[in-house]
Amino acid sequence: PNITHQIMESSSLRRENCRAKGGSPGFKVAILGAAGGIGQPLSLLMKMNPLVSVLHLYDVVNTPGVTSDISHMDTSAVVRGFLGQPQLEDALTGMDLVIIPAGVPRKPGMTRDDLFNINAGIVKTLSQGIAKCCPKAIVNVISNPVNSTVPIAAEIFKKAGTYDPSRLLGVTMLDVVRANTFVAEVLGLDPKEVNVPVVGGHAGVTILPLLSQIKPPINFTPKETEYLTSRIQNGGTEVVEAKAGTGSATLSMAYAAVKFADACLRGLRGDAGVIECAFISSQVTELPFFASRVRLGRNGIEEIYPLGPLNEYERAGLEMAKKELAGSIEKGVSFARK
Ligand code: NAI
Repeated sequence: PNITHQIMESSSLRRENCRAKGGSPGFKVAILGAAGGIGQPLSLLMKMNPLVSVLHLYDVVNTPGVTSDISHMDTSAVVRGFLGQPQLEDALTGMDLVIIPAGVPRKPGMTRDDLFNINAGIVKTLSQGIAKCCPKAIVNVISNPVNSTVPIAAEIFKKAGTYDPSRLLGVTMLDVVRANTFVAEVLGLDPKEVNVPVVGGHAGVTILPLLSQIKPPINFTPKETEYLTSRIQNGGTEVVEAKAGTGSATLSMAYAAVKFADACLRGLRGDAGVIECAFISSQVTELPFFASRVRLGRNGIEEIYPLGPLNEYERAGLEMAKKELAGSIEKGVSFARK
């Protein structure tokens, strides 16, 4: 009702129109769960992204404060806050990209699957909103267990008749970010120079780093392979234990989420050669969902790459990963069909 609010709204509209007229690229992005441990730094970093013209921050708590705070940053994205279920539809309408970090995180001793009961329902509700208000948006699912929440979102979209498998992506980027960091540490390289494909899923043994395919090519000893694989698979637990009951990875996750979202936006803009790993609907294995390298473009996923040659250690890992993944996918599908 006050004058500050009126000035902000008319200025936002002027900026949006101005940008659209100037033909400058700008995408509309919504973050669902924006007031959380991941949501806040993720909102901060997306406000700094020049590809974002409008940033909608939605949560069931605290969005007025987070939005007010972030809106004072002198970067061009227009920020708007939305609080609670009655404002979900306004938060989603017109969005090009929706990022979902809503849901409870792990505490020490918990697996990602222990989060299923709470987070499955949250992802279901949010997916229903997306199907209704922005069915063409690219969706990035961060909420755990990703191995089940992505199949849940897919089922909800199918029910609504809006499912496009090339627009739904589970975010496994943090596994790649960790793999690059840990491998660089072992080799004494700058992590920027390292690229490790991580396939499978996003929990324990389903996280399958393909160390035989890293760039630059390196031959690891069996001991190094064992150490690195285990550290990459348990990177999340390392953080959960260090945080001792106060949550799981939030800052490195926000960084990874922004790295991934930026790749999706560059794809939407039409950039060539945007390739990242993600957990997606797939025919790379016999499972209906699997994480692997994908090329991102104007329509979301434009190409899914095969796994490539695996060594014996990776082939054994793949069998273990598939076994666990099958159960997690099925759990998500049957929850959504109930
Ligand atoms: P958090 O508890 O700090 O924040 C979650 C936010 O979601 C809270 O602000 C909460 O109010 C909000 N929320 C709850 N229900 C909601 C609903 N129905 N609609 C909108 N927002 C809602 O948790 P944190 O640390 O931010 O983690 C969020 C999720 O991300 C967890 O499920 C966690 O397991 C997952 N995660 C995923 C990773 C990945 O690599 N994909 C890595 C780290 C965490």
